Amino acid sequence: MDFSKQHMKFFLLVTLLSLFPLSVKASIDDAKAAALAKQNACLGCHAVDKKIVGPSLQAIAKKYASDPNASAFLKNKILKGGSGSWGVVPMPANAKLSDAELSLLVGWILRGAPSTN
Ligand code: HEC
Repeated sequence: MDFSKQHMKFFLLVTLLSLFPLSVKASIDDAKAAALAKQNACLGCHAVDKKIVGPSLQAIAKKYASDPNASAFLKNKILKGGSGSWGVVPMPANAKLSDAELSLLVGWILRGAPSTN
């Protein structure tokens, strides 16, 4: 085996190993966020892939996919509620969610709300 092939294998291995913890963390976060969404009745108004009272979580992910301010905007929107992005029906405020919980929820929604089961 020549040097460049070995080099390539090593490079691939390092890349895979460095990505692994990230994907594990994302799936733990997904599980926590899905549980939070259930506990806070978000899923009564939002389904992953179809509109109920509010837009589907996948539609939200798509709408904000290239918006660099999406995370901050959506955290504040979930906290305070309101209307105007999708129509006239307002979302109620969720004032008891912590900043960390809001971050978890928004991160999960922007990843397209991957299911955890
Ligand atoms: C009573 C129904 C209801 C509940 C409960 C609810 N939502 Fe909503 N949600 C809505 C509606 C309606 C909209 C659309 C608001 C608009 O047009 O600006 C919305 C919009 C959103 C958006 C997109 C906001 C935007 O401006 O684009 C996010 C993100 C969101 N909801 C997350 C959540 C989360 C997380 C929870 C639980 C903590 C939750 N929602 C609970 C009805 C609800």
